[in-house]
Amino acid sequence: MTSLDSALEVDAERLTDADGTLLRVDGPDKVTGRAVYAAEHHFADQAYAVPVTSTIAKGMIMAIDVADAEVVAGVLTIISADHAPVLPEGDDGELRLFQSHEVAYRGQIVAAVVATSLEAAVEAAGLVRIRYDEAPADVLLRTDHPRLYAPEHVNPDFATDTTVGDVEAQLAQADVVVDATYTTPGEHNNPMEPHATIAVWDAGRLTLYDSVQGSQRARRAVAAALGIDPDDVRVVYQFVGGGFGSKGSSRPQAIVAALAAREVDRPVVCVVSRAQMFTMTGYRTPTIQRVQLGATADGRLTATAHDVWEQTSTIAEFAEQTAVATRHMYAAPGRRTTHRLVALDVPTPAWMRAPGECPGMFALESAMDELATACAIDPVELRIINEPDLDPETGTPFGDRRLVQCLRDGARRFSWAERRGRGPQRDGAWLSGVGVASSVYPARAQTSAARATAYPDGRWLVEIDAADIGTGSRTALLGYAAECLAVSADRVELRIADSALPAAMIAGGSMGAASWTWAIGKACAELQQRLDRSDGSIPALGIAVEVSTKDEVAALPDVSRFSFGAQFVEVRVNTDTGETRVPHMLGVFSAGRILNPVMARSQLIGGMTMGLSMALMEEAILDVELGYVVNHDLAQYHIATHADVPSIEVHVLDGGRSDLGRAGAQGVGEVGIVGAAAAVANAVHHATGIRVRDLPIRLDRLLPC
Ligand code: MOS
Repeated sequence: MTSLDSALEVDAERLTDADGTLLRVDGPDKVTGRAVYAAEHHFADQAYAVPVTSTIAKGMIMAIDVADAEVVAGVLTIISADHAPVLPEGDDGELRLFQSHEVAYRGQIVAAVVATSLEAAVEAAGLVRIRYDEAPADVLLRTDHPRLYAPEHVNPDFATDTTVGDVEAQLAQADVVVDATYTTPGEHNNPMEPHATIAVWDAGRLTLYDSVQGSQRARRAVAAALGIDPDDVRVVYQFVGGGFGSKGSSRPQAIVAALAAREVDRPVVCVVSRAQMFTMTGYRTPTIQRVQLGATADGRLTATAHDVWEQTSTIAEFAEQTAVATRHMYAAPGRRTTHRLVALDVPTPAWMRAPGECPGMFALESAMDELATACAIDPVELRIINEPDLDPETGTPFGDRRLVQCLRDGARRFSWAERRGRGPQRDGAWLSGVGVASSVYPARAQTSAARATAYPDGRWLVEIDAADIGTGSRTALLGYAAECLAVSADRVELRIADSALPAAMIAGGSMGAASWTWAIGKACAELQQRLDRSDGSIPALGIAVEVSTKDEVAALPDVSRFSFGAQFVEVRVNTDTGETRVPHMLGVFSAGRILNPVMARSQLIGGMTMGLSMALMEEAILDVELGYVVNHDLAQYHIATHADVPSIEVHVLDGGRSDLGRAGAQGVGEVGIVGAAAAVANAVHHATGIRVRDLPIRLDRLLPC
């Protein structure tokens, strides 16, 4: 058993901890401000673009009056549907800017002012006057919406619906049935660094200094939106201040910057404001989820049905795969999952940490807790009773399913049986209780390339277009490259985060670690073989080997690969105020080999923290009349801070090694958020007897308790 929670003793000289684990190699640059983020690049003649956004949720632009705006000193141009180049048709309506006078949602970009200073651009943006013909907007998700439809597939390409056996008959015959509806609100990614792009054109070629989770997708999306060749787009993204999925796809500020830079013939910077992040950068769709579980009296599942309703926009489809995890978690002779979508007059939802698994497992793992109560079985035991031998959906073996070990180990560390058995405790106005839930996240990899070079002076260079969005991948990959080359890390230079480097997977779907180490490992191994075959002399320019993992990824055996976890939570609920505090969370995870325990610990704690935040705080509050999220800033959209998270303990099972790639790593970016909110809600139920099925667990939902 490896505790990732041991105290960190730092060897400041070598930037390693006492165990020799490499510490964040770019940490000093980040804390001293030397690390340059997208908007911090600077060009002598750069101009500034500021978006103007719609103030209605649906309708037509009748007139765009720029008379007052264009006379502001320093204004270079104003782009809008009245004055814009024609862009190609494309799939992503969010990137197809200024092509229509129609408004699809409140906060949509309808114009952009470009000026020689940010101040002038902001001032002029406020002076662009737009007259609208407003139509009634439809922004509320509901299960009886007349325009609900079944998408062709759910993100990215899963079946929309699945049915196995006769779920209705199984439910009718079950000894115990749980039938409950859970809801999660719209939730918004709020990485510390807002999205930002500087666009620089040079002889028809575009360079973007961008804040993205990967460049290959970004260059294709921007090229498609502009109608240019992807090979003419370079994306540089050395430092990225968080993404959580919101930077996995290109955002409209990149298109604004590119169009503006082309028109004014200077570099143009476009930074999304915090408020604009609530409309321009995607969000987690609200969900309504009905879960029906049927079981025998001794807790064996006979039926699982998970029906989901969620939204998309009118200009692009994003269909979150909310019920997909349910297909693989527990076996039952009757099973059904469905997803229904409605296109509303809202911004397009998108990826947010563990899209699908995260909201879906809130519902499933809450329902499992309800079933445990109904059957009077311990919730840990109920999950163990229903542990499948094979993947229930595919019939294939699991690669490394150690959910039961996670549950047992977590239960032991948390003194679960004793604390759960004691029942809720009262301490003055505070009631306390404990809860548990499972975590799951798919383990996958995608084709990546890498180049490794040996130099005669004993230095090594490893190059790959991998991303470090704050996860510590720069550190973990450097450590892995040094291990592969059997040299100390200070002899190796790692270059990442530039589309000019060998193309690789984005930092998304927790696939970075497996995809990138696979390519790095292969490049280093082939370089070593090449050196072994040579006479030992290395020319001054070095000897380089470039590889791709295309064949290996395609040849992966058909195995169900997931990371698993078990999360245990203690809550305290104040019976006077309804306030919920979480003094302790404990997670045990199985995620293949852990590349760098220090970086992995941060990822898992980060995921659990975000899950706590989801459980107790995060909620986009919709003004149904005006059609927008009213709490569009960090003063009103609450996320967990240090004071909300007193103690999170993380452990990983020993001996983890995935068959995914050379390193055996599976990535830990997302599994930590999955199940966390259910564990909190289940603990709240244990403490108070109140089952909160609608997130977040607000004070008013617990009063009177
Ligand atoms: Mo993550 S939501 O796959 O970037």
